[in-house]
Amino acid sequence: MQCALPFVRLNTIKNMSNYLNLTFVNNLKPLEKINHYEFRNKPFSNSDVFLVTIENFKLLTQGQDVKRVYNLKLSTMTISYNFLPGDTIGILPRNDDREVDEILIRLNIESDKEKLYELGILENTTKKSATLPKHIPRQGVLKDIFTYYIDIRKPPKKLFLKALIPFTRDPEEISLLEKLCSPKGSNEYADLITGKAHTLLGLLNTFPSCNPPIGIILEHSLPLQPRYYSISSSPLENNALQITFFIVDNDDGTKGVCSGWLEEIIRYSDKQIEKIPIYFRKPNNFRIPTDTTTPLIMISTGTGIAPFIGFLNHRQKMKINDNGVMGNTYLFYGCRYPDRDFLYHNELEEYLKTHVLTKLYTAFSRSTEKKWYVQDEMNKNGEELVNNILRNGAIVYVCGDAKTTVKGVKDALINNLVVHGHLEESAAKDYLNELVKENRFITDCWS
Ligand SMILES: Cc1cc2nc3c(=O)[nH]c(=O)nc-3n(C[C@H](O)[C@H](O)[C@H](O)COP(=O)(O)OP(=O)(O)OC[C@H]3O[C@@H](n4cnc5c(N)ncnc54)[C@H](O)[C@@H]3O)c2cc1C
Ligand SMILES: NC(=O)c1ccc[n+]([C@@H]2O[C@H](COP(=O)([O-])OP(=O)(O)OC[C@H]3O[C@@H](n4cnc5c(N)ncnc54)[C@H](OP(=O)(O)O)[C@@H]3O)[C@@H](O)[C@H]2O)c1
Repeated sequence: MQCALPFVRLNTIKNMSNYLNLTFVNNLKPLEKINHYEFRNKPFSNSDVFLVTIENFKLLTQGQDVKRVYNLKLSTMTISYNFLPGDTIGILPRNDDREVDEILIRLNIESDKEKLYELGILENTTKKSATLPKHIPRQGVLKDIFTYYIDIRKPPKKLFLKALIPFTRDPEEISLLEKLCSPKGSNEYADLITGKAHTLLGLLNTFPSCNPPIGIILEHSLPLQPRYYSISSSPLENNALQITFFIVDNDDGTKGVCSGWLEEIIRYSDKQIEKIPIYFRKPNNFRIPTDTTTPLIMISTGTGIAPFIGFLNHRQKMKINDNGVMGNTYLFYGCRYPDRDFLYHNELEEYLKTHVLTKLYTAFSRSTEKKWYVQDEMNKNGEELVNNILRNGAIVYVCGDAKTTVKGVKDALINNLVVHGHLEESAAKDYLNELVKENRFITDCWS
């Protein structure tokens, strides 16, 4: 929340932006504290924000040529929300402190970072209907803008590059900026935004003679967005809230904003008290039926196994609770190697032993010369797959990359419906569309 208090203006920071005016203020009374997580944008939110800590973590991968994937167990003491496996949480990440400091140093405002600011519209602006950006509080502490509110990793838009020109001294840098904004410079622009000038800091360091006012940067900034993670646990297991995530390692040595922040908390025990703001997204239809006799076919690659580990955990507890019959449960899982990135291998073996999982089909893409993907494994076991769908009413769940895995799985399913279901290709496609409509072919993916 923001409050209107009497402010004394101390100075105006390089007051040359198009329409935003950032002034330092010396408040007479302490400012009402803004909780960044209350103020921030929370798309698809279905709950309050809860501050949680990491209770436990486990590295799930090892060796070369695989991503670092972790299982995180989050504390649930502060959570008052009924979640289910298959639901998704949004984590409100923060930008890396060192990167923020470097930006502030580069902008010559490091010494002001703890100062209070007020954001307003320049009185003499020529911009029509200028408004304050919704993602930045009107008042606050300067460094918080860069830590919580703006995305400092988004590739710069051409308009931003153009806006930097008046604040650049070096003629060569000016002509490069002009070229980058022009239609002639589209190749150079593409190289720039995929190269080291991808981030705000990288961009500023690429143009050392450019010294823009903060207002310009804020005018062209985008909000720091939440990152989403599938729940990999069941609330029936001591209300456990777990996620499975991989670390994004960028070519420039930086890590993903959120995955890097989470790994930092894990690595340094003094940080493990850090509060992580999360919220629950509106659930979609990626949930298991309450009837435990319904057969399930789960298909995933890599971290796409995240919701399915939650499903199995839930189904195990449902079975114990209901003391009832369990429908067949199949998992098709694809990863690179059997001994490096086979996520939750031991847990899956245990679920097989206890018949929570009826069959596990694996596809290891890099352990043989020829790639072997989940869809190859589906084709190999097509008859059983089709029988379960056509005759036993199984529900098919797919979690993986939208462009690669999900497309491949759909094609394989159509192929198997033709071969083993004896349908014409067009009828097989229609049948798949029907399954989608009836919530019997459900996908959860991002790319
Ligand atoms: C519905 C949904 C569910 C999801 N579920 C899961 C899940 O269960 N597990 C999971 O691990 N993830 C999941 N994700 C993805 C997750 O939300 C994040 O997108 C992911 O963790 C990366 O976030 P990040 O902040 O670490 O990386 P970001 O900082 O957002 O970086 C992501 C990408 O941006 C580019 N990039 C950023 N900075 C640079 C740079 N300096 N140089 C070059 N390129 C750069 C790269 O392409 C990089 O791969 C899900 C996403 C959605 C939409
Ligand atoms: N709720 C959600 O929406 C959710 C949750 C978690 C994960 N996911 C999705 O899961 C995907 C997997 O993530 P990851 O980075 O952990 O995976 P990854 O390790 O990069 O890949 C996992 C496996 O998939 C294989 N693969 C590549 N292309 C394929 C294709 N066309 N068809 C089938 N398999 C293919 C890979 O083989 P090679 O690399 O050897 O070619 C590898 O063996 C993410 O991209 C994300 O989209 C979604």
